[in-house]
Amino acid sequence: MSPNIPVIAIDGPSASGKGTVASRVALTLGFHYLDSGALYRLTALASRQKGIPVLEQAQQYEQDIAECAAKLDVRFEGELIFLQEEDVSLAIRDEQTSREASRVAALGAVRAALLQRQREFLQAPGLVTDGRDMATVVFPDANLKVFLTASAEERALRRYKQLIGKGFTANMVDLLKDICERDERDASREHAPLVQDSRAGLLDTTYLSADAAVAEVLRRYQIVSSHDCV
Ligand code: CDP
Repeated sequence: MSPNIPVIAIDGPSASGKGTVASRVALTLGFHYLDSGALYRLTALASRQKGIPVLEQAQQYEQDIAECAAKLDVRFEGELIFLQEEDVSLAIRDEQTSREASRVAALGAVRAALLQRQREFLQAPGLVTDGRDMATVVFPDANLKVFLTASAEERALRRYKQLIGKGFTANMVDLLKDICERDERDASREHAPLVQDSRAGLLDTTYLSADAAVAEVLRRYQIVSSHDCV
């Protein structure tokens, strides 16, 4: 890892607002942004396109799914994401892909296949990244580590608004159930479970607006960067 390039690692559970906060912090600081969850979503989509039964039998197909992850032909262009030159920015956000992503993300071989690819996003002048294991595994030397969370109900509501806003149909009861199941799977899995790193400060956004959460991360970054040899 490049010791002179600053990293802000934001981890947290599903729909806690990590993506919104991390991308806006990156924009404000002029840093690069890595949405690590998108790589798991892309792996799920690419595997499904190859006919692998990701939802039902992810474990039996671990090596095939890991091969899809290693060979992902992906291009990030602003907010757009292309898989083999096809714009999949919306497709990777639907609920089926969300469920599948959570399953492929539990596979050790898949995580290993994506590790180096994630680290390659670390480029000057800096990186803001969000996911589950950014602080614990991928960027353990990050200058600032934040564990961003919110109540499950608030997260389900945010996901509901996000899906409706993108023209998908959604149902609050199902979303809440899904979020709780995904929390359980992310936290209890063997490889890189979702845990708060010992150096990560908690940021509970249940009653915080996105603007306030962004401001708080920037405030924390200012504190560490003025006391750090960044
Ligand atoms: O939007 P949401 O937070 O539910 O998902 P995401 O951040 O796009 O990540 C999709 C899935 O990938 C999650 O269910 C996680 O299980 C997994 N993931 C992971 O295991 N490690 C990461 N660094 C990022 C995502």
